[in-house]
Amino acid sequence: MNMRTKDFTTPAACTNLEWWRSAVIYQIYPRSFADSDGDGIGDLPGITAKLPYLGRLGIDAIWLSPFYLSPQADAGYDVADYRVVDPLFGTLDDFDRMLEQAHALGMRVIVDLVPNHTSDEHAWFQAALQSPPGSAERARYLFRDGKGAHGNLPPNNWQSVFGGNAWSRAPGDSQWYLHLFDRRQPDLNWDHPDVRSEFEDVLKFWLDRGVDGFRVDVAHGLVKAPGLPDWAGQAAMVEGTEGGDDNPGPMWDQEDVHEIYRSWRRLLDSYPGERMMVAEAWIAPQARLTRYIRPDEMQQAFNFDYLLTHWDAAEIKAVVDSSLAASAAVGAPTTWVMSNHDSVRHTSRYGLSKPGARPKGIAADGEQPDEALGLRRARAAAFLTLALPGSAYIYQGEELGLPEHTTLEAHYRQDPAFFRTNGEEIGRDGCRVPLPWLADAPSFGFGPSEKSWLPQPENFARYAVDRQEGVYGSTLELYRQLLQLRHDYKLGNGQLRWQSGDSSDVLSFDNGTLCTVINLGMRPVTLPPGRLLLSSEQRDASGRLPGNAAAWLALR
Ligand code: GLC
Repeated sequence: MNMRTKDFTTPAACTNLEWWRSAVIYQIYPRSFADSDGDGIGDLPGITAKLPYLGRLGIDAIWLSPFYLSPQADAGYDVADYRVVDPLFGTLDDFDRMLEQAHALGMRVIVDLVPNHTSDEHAWFQAALQSPPGSAERARYLFRDGKGAHGNLPPNNWQSVFGGNAWSRAPGDSQWYLHLFDRRQPDLNWDHPDVRSEFEDVLKFWLDRGVDGFRVDVAHGLVKAPGLPDWAGQAAMVEGTEGGDDNPGPMWDQEDVHEIYRSWRRLLDSYPGERMMVAEAWIAPQARLTRYIRPDEMQQAFNFDYLLTHWDAAEIKAVVDSSLAASAAVGAPTTWVMSNHDSVRHTSRYGLSKPGARPKGIAADGEQPDEALGLRRARAAAFLTLALPGSAYIYQGEELGLPEHTTLEAHYRQDPAFFRTNGEEIGRDGCRVPLPWLADAPSFGFGPSEKSWLPQPENFARYAVDRQEGVYGSTLELYRQLLQLRHDYKLGNGQLRWQSGDSSDVLSFDNGTLCTVINLGMRPVTLPPGRLLLSSEQRDASGRLPGNAAAWLALR
């Protein structure tokens, strides 16, 4: 077991190497990670039981998607009480135990903060619905009178990210309220002092319990343009740049949002132990995104440009360069993300005929990825991601090479985006399927019963942890070796130097004394001089690296 112990109180000033600059952070989607009680939904005790597994993997921190009290209209991203653990996931004591054990194993813990909207079951929204137009209770949300003679038309033309209108009315209510996501996720009014002070209190609540940071949901959405003007674009997360790079729309990336993060940063800095924030902000170009990680704001932002990159050497090189340059300009680390709970798993994206395309879910009647090719590319991509300087994110199951569930039947789907678009958008359920731990057990060992909140496809047996643990060349063992070498060679704190490859399909770079070669083409290539440390596939008889494969070499 990896028993690295860490001193979580080292002041940043002494090291100038704050942990988050180079950390490998593992995303846990609690409802799908491990189920301790057999109800088919993962929970906090399930996570605690698997912490030694994560310790052995060699990650630095975990980030937990929401586990707070919620009617689960958007899988917990609709929070009814920010200080209460939903009974689905356990209790606050379970959380404290999990946190303590993670820390004892040398892992930090980041929790999700959802400040753009609450659940419609939040006490504030319930009070707002029971109060008249113009009341103080309504002022915490974005209630407006409708347009048209009888106010029967929405106040503006904004569309929800999940499809359909961004405004709804409660039955019998004369006013409309804004929801950039589901109608059960009313947007908060961030001009209201109650909202600001409440979230500072929520931050303190979790900081006092000892969390090491926050992943800030929809960080670019909190502040809306004054007057909520009409906008011709579609409010989307991924295509957030549709309105042109400089005009993401009046609901995104407003200047005043930054003051919120400056105040949060002051709060975090008043705590010992390098607490951090990472922004989920789907904005472009990188120069706009890095405004969220200026020295007095957040520490990291997810690099979605990298996630969106196709399996193409020139494209990847360009994104790596622009990401490194943009973050260096503000003195922040770059992050590298390939998958998360909102995107088709990259193992499957890389197996599509346009490898790396990002469909909004895959269903049985859509193009089915080439599973073996996608896996092969995903294994190679791990060599790239984990060799780059900065911080890397791993989405649960990625270390197993787990594919998307691409044939989930419609009646199992739960993503509100599927329903709000009448199935036009397949949605995100396929990347959220419970993990396989044991190939031959009910629910593939996800829990003690056969229950699993989404059915697992049969091919998950091949990817189960017990099929890979200790198996030379398995994706799990590959990740363990990569993470160990990344740690030993201090790649996260290193510097990238491109080397010229012998083909336009090859990327090759040094980071310190480690050289990475990725062959994105089909033809084998000769490796540069150096001692081979690890490769994603066997070399051929002439020692060449085959297509869709990668290698790490020691230069000394
Ligand atoms: C973020 C979350 C996503 C959620 C949305 C609304 O994008 O990652 O899962 O649906 O915010 O909270």
